[in-house]
This record gives sequence, C-alpha cells and structure tokens, in this order.
Amino acid sequence: MRKACPGVLLRYHVEHERVRSGVAANMLVHITKDFEELSREAARVVANAIRKKHDLRLGLATGSTQLGLYQELVRMHRQEQLDLARVVTFNLDEYIGLPSGHPQSFRSVMFRDFFDHINIPRENIHLPDGTPRNDYEQYCGEYEEEIRSAGGIDLQVLGLGKDGHIGFNEPTSSLASRTRPKTLTRQTVEDNRRFFGANEEPPHAAITMGIGTILEARRVLLLASGAAKARAVALAVEGPVTASVSASALQMHRNATALVDREAAANLLHREYYERALEMTRKLTPGRLW
Ligand code: F6R
Repeated sequence: MRKACPGVLLRYHVEHERVRSGVAANMLVHITKDFEELSREAARVVANAIRKKHDLRLGLATGSTQLGLYQELVRMHRQEQLDLARVVTFNLDEYIGLPSGHPQSFRSVMFRDFFDHINIPRENIHLPDGTPRNDYEQYCGEYEEEIRSAGGIDLQVLGLGKDGHIGFNEPTSSLASRTRPKTLTRQTVEDNRRFFGANEEPPHAAITMGIGTILEARRVLLLASGAAKARAVALAVEGPVTASVSASALQMHRNATALVDREAAANLLHREYYERALEMTRKLTPGRLW
C-alpha cells in the first residue's frame, strides 16, 4: 500500500472528524478582562467537564499561564467538593535531560503546583519521562498507546509559546506530528531561562505530544495571557494555517476555544465579532461552552 503523506493524513483526519461530529465548528475566542478572570473561566470549563464526565481524560500543560487555573481547581476541590478521583491526566511534554527530581522538571512542577493538592490517584497521572534514552521511537509510541487505550483525550488544555508553539511543537513541526523528542528554539530556551538558576543552562530539548496527537482531543482549550503573547495569539487565530505557527492548526479542530485576556487579544482584528459569536453560542449551542 502507498504511504499517505502527512498532508493527506491531516485532510483525512479533518474530514473524518467532520463526518463523525456532524459539524466543523470555528474556533471560539473568549476574551477576559485579565489573568484572574481567564484562570477562573478555564477552571470553570475544566470543572464542568469533570462534573459531566467523572472519568474525564484530561490533557494538561505546564507553564506560568496554567498556574491560575491549577490554583482555582485546587480551591474548588477544597471549598466546593470538586472530586477528581476518577480523572485521568496526560501531560503534553517534559524536558529531556534534567536530573530526576529537578525542581523545574514538568513532573516536579505539576506535583508541586497541582497534583499534590487534589485527589487524582497517582496511577491516573501520566507525564512523559524526560530521561535521555536510545529508544525514543518506542517510548513515544507507548505514550501514544497509553492515550489511545485510555479512550483518547476528552479535553486538552494548552498554553501558547511566543513563537506560536503548543506543547513543545516548535515552528516547522509537522501538523500531523505525534509524540516525539523535539529541539527547542532559542526563543523558547530564553523564555524558560527565568525558571532556572543564574548558572544553569535551561534544557534545549523536550518530549512533546505532536500536533496530530493534540488535534485528536475531543475538545481543546488554548490559554494565553499578557502582551507578550499578543502576536502569537493573532497568528494562531487569524493567520494562515501553517507549520510556522503550530497553534494555527487549531483552526481545523472541530471544538477549540481560545481563552485569552485583553492584553493577549490586543492584536486580534475581529474582537467585536468574537464577543458576538460567544453570545450567540450561549444562546444556540450552550453545550459547546460547558
Ligand atoms: C508546556 C507547554 C508550553 C507552554 C508555553 C507557554 O507544557 O505546553 O506550550 O504552555 O510555552 O508557557 P508559559 O505559560 O510559561 O508562557
């Protein structure tokens, strides 16, 4: 059998999903006043998803944008009895080569900021392992298989890099890519330097779910906050779909929402339209908003 090229596979994926879901919806854009409102809204979406499906398969990201979401979910768990006992999580990515237990590994950050404060059983938590290895293909294939055998991801939360990456799918990543090791751009290495000590070199590579993996999630929630993300948000939401801006692939997802604060939305041309579209969605298809 002839091998299909990634473009063909992606078109197949998009068409297949159109048929499966009946509608190919546009990306919803929800603009919040500030980071606090963004975090509360993101937590509301995730909590509602968990309340509707107790064994939600939840895809998670790491980074400063996610912190408010995790704090709010912890608060809901403590004060509003949000029960996460049956939730299964899959993290997008992990640095390659940090010593085990390094405070800035995504594993350490996720436990410190989130998992240690809620009731997701440890065996339900999945993060890629960034230990250097010589069998990445097999290891990454197994991570994909874990996602598949769990039934796929119901809701994938994403952050956005200044260079438009989602997960660590740096510019020029294939739009059909799967979990694999990825070299980080200089921009990403420099952006991450703030988390590391003055004499410490941030990692230059990571294992990340691919764009193809992310597009298979049933719902996607992209978070972006602050003026530094305004360019990437505009390119992702209103630019052409291109491997140069990985997040632009979300324009082809059937149920993607970009949740961005005013500063991050500053370069969007159609802000007024997005507000009206959100209002209309609340009336016509509120299920999309959870
Ligand atoms: C990490 C990840 C990345 C970050 C992005 C933004 O798991 O998925 O795509 O979300 O680099 O990071 P912050 O939020 O720190 O600006």
